[in-house]
Amino acid sequence: MATLLVKNIGILQTPVGSHSHKGAEQGENLKLRNAAVLIEDGLISEITSDGKLPEGGEKADTIIDAEGKLVTPGLVDGHTHMVFGGYRQHEIPMKLKGATYLDILRAGGGILDTVRKTREASFDELYDKTEEFLDEMMGFGVTTCEAKSGYGLDFDTEMKMLKVINKLNEDHPMDVVATFMGAHATPDEYKGREDEYIDMLCNEMLPYVKEHGLAEFADIFTEDSVFNYEQSRKYLQKAKDLGFLLKIHADEIEAIGGSVLAGEIGAMSAEHLISINEEGLASMAKGGTTAMCLPATSFYLGANFAPARRMVELGIPVAAASDFNPGSCPSLNLQFVMNLACIKYRLLPEEVLTAVTINPACAINRGDKVGTLEVGKQGDLVVWDAPDMEMLCYRFCSNMALQVIKKGNLV
Ligand code: NIG
Ligand code: FE
Repeated sequence: MATLLVKNIGILQTPVGSHSHKGAEQGENLKLRNAAVLIEDGLISEITSDGKLPEGGEKADTIIDAEGKLVTPGLVDGHTHMVFGGYRQHEIPMKLKGATYLDILRAGGGILDTVRKTREASFDELYDKTEEFLDEMMGFGVTTCEAKSGYGLDFDTEMKMLKVINKLNEDHPMDVVATFMGAHATPDEYKGREDEYIDMLCNEMLPYVKEHGLAEFADIFTEDSVFNYEQSRKYLQKAKDLGFLLKIHADEIEAIGGSVLAGEIGAMSAEHLISINEEGLASMAKGGTTAMCLPATSFYLGANFAPARRMVELGIPVAAASDFNPGSCPSLNLQFVMNLACIKYRLLPEEVLTAVTINPACAINRGDKVGTLEVGKQGDLVVWDAPDMEMLCYRFCSNMALQVIKKGNLV
């Protein structure tokens, strides 16, 4: 049995429980001083505080002295598009000359540009590139993440992307949860025939993905000029009937009913929510849908920030994720997301920690395994080069993760 002890922890800070935290509970973290954590065979077996050590801890195979620093659960990035061909740095001058995100997409660029490059890329090229992203994410303290397809928009490429995600989930220390997002945009070959494209996804791709266990979640981009409310409802209802868990890119630019639909249909999370209105907020609160807020995307698009503070007050569980993708957020740094969640969303450090641990863990169906430091959960944690959470919310653009431990192994 492999054992690892982390001792001399100044503050061990963690949300508690395996459920999503909303309202006042969003800001409730357990804080243990002078703590230690023992991990046996990948799972937390004992947590102590006030200078006591777990029984037999000094005999652990590996002992890490945290030297009085902060320890939190490993971070969970609940929303990424990390598998893609090429990059889109050429959009920078277009944007500076005034083109908006949707202007570029309508002109056949944006997502569709990445689709062309992802179709051209081989499985191995995508695998190697994504593996490097996973290494970089782990270096920033992320130990579990979600990854979407959606840059194929044809059968072969969508399946290639999902196979890359599933293979990396097996091969890489990161836990990677797969989401099918064939409804990310309408490909050129279906231009003007959006309804037919949705029907094809419902009749061909969703059943195949389900049958072969290639993704746990289905997601759609509900947006002006992309997919409307009716198309989104049809696709998500079919996915739900097949047994998928649901996500929805909603109200990123225009509120066309995406967040309303999320609450109505029982989506686990709705993403972006920059332009959410009162109806959407009420629907999400009623449906218990987690708000997957993406502040680095707001930053990069020069857009408004989702009303996350208000969502907490309304009892909507708030998560914050990177949205790492080649267009609207070419950064995978979840620590920067934490800074933005504090400064732009006005979330307190405790609320921020909940937003990057247990709430996204629940929104990707892993709340029973990760997202908190408790006996029986996976031994995923970060020793930070910081004495407290305030320091993590305050310093930005430095990597503050000192040691990252995944299932009891130092990575
Ligand atoms: O979540 N908004 C839709 N999808 C991604 C961006 C994809 C892209 O621009 O390549 C997002 O921001
Ligand atoms: Fe996204």
